[in-house]
Amino acid sequence: MSENNVAIETENLTKTYTDFRGRPKARALQELSLTIKKGEVFGLLGPNGSGKTTTIKLLLGLIFPTSGTAKVLGKPATDVSVKHSIGFLPEESYLYKFLDAEETLEFYGQIFGMKKAVRKAKADELIKRLGLDYARKRQVKEYSKGMARRIGFAQALINDPEVLFLDEPTSGLDPIGTREMKDLILQLKDEGKTILLSSHLLADVQDVCDRIAILHLGTLRKLGPVKDLLKIKDILQVTLAGLDDEGKDRVASLLAEHAEVLDISHPSESLEDLFLKTIQENPREGDQESYRQEWGRKVGQVVPGSEAKKESAEES
Ligand SMILES: Nc1ncnc2c1ncn2[C@@H]1O[C@H](COP(=O)(O)OP(=O)(O)OP(=O)(O)O)[C@@H](O)[C@H]1O
Ligand SMILES: [Mg+2]
Repeated sequence: MSENNVAIETENLTKTYTDFRGRPKARALQELSLTIKKGEVFGLLGPNGSGKTTTIKLLLGLIFPTSGTAKVLGKPATDVSVKHSIGFLPEESYLYKFLDAEETLEFYGQIFGMKKAVRKAKADELIKRLGLDYARKRQVKEYSKGMARRIGFAQALINDPEVLFLDEPTSGLDPIGTREMKDLILQLKDEGKTILLSSHLLADVQDVCDRIAILHLGTLRKLGPVKDLLKIKDILQVTLAGLDDEGKDRVASLLAEHAEVLDISHPSESLEDLFLKTIQENPREGDQESYRQEWGRKVGQVVPGSEAKKESAEES
């Protein structure tokens, strides 16, 4: 692979956290070697404490490796010049609680030195893209977990980064929010961005990632394209539609002549698909848009001054 095609590269990346006396406390990551291509969506998968966040922090230059190297866009992870091309959604977003969505994004735009008109337009675009239009003037301290995740994601996109690091992007989101987040990740991939995400939600990783690495106890256990890793090579699955009972019996006996038939059954859909279909099939009366927009409209309809009254009623 040519150097120009590589977005992220680690070589024998190792991190041992130490206590204040320098004694080893946790061997968080051991000799991780990875090469992630530009435009790839790459998933870091692993149970709690397996080293996912540690890997991301090392790649962001937020912590230093005990040994090994980490490069982003051809430069050492600690190189400040690469920061303009990077976006980061931390495991937990630390937001300024008294700012609203617009102010939050404008604040981060200012940090990146964006001109006022540009950052205003970008903030507006991201607020809409992340489905927060209805709450753009609300202080982020009043945001639900899922809304905070969305504004965190918007903040990670404010500088139109080339490489995105998303630490547990779907945590705290309901199934609709999760699907929207996954769609957004795929859209960003279409726009040519490289995305490294971590998760322990297996379905999320399966749906959006080109390749995955499975970490356990800080060590790389599996690496490869999702489809290849999941393929059971010695079993062939045949999917048929419109077969009557007689046809089914004939196919079953024909197959039995050539192979051991393990299963003939109807395929099942995922619980996520069932959930989303159920919600979409049963909209509330007159509800053409998502329930968030519906709710947003209701908030927008309050008579002038009544919001302030509602707030003071809530506070008292
Ligand atoms: N600042 C720290 N000081 C000491 N040990 C740490 C520190 N940060 C992480 N660790 C340890 O390093 C190991 C890996 O932690 P890490 O946060 O990278 O895991 P993770 O895969 O992101 O887990 P989770 O799914 O819970 O977010 C754990 O054993 C953790 O206790
Ligand atoms: Mg983590």
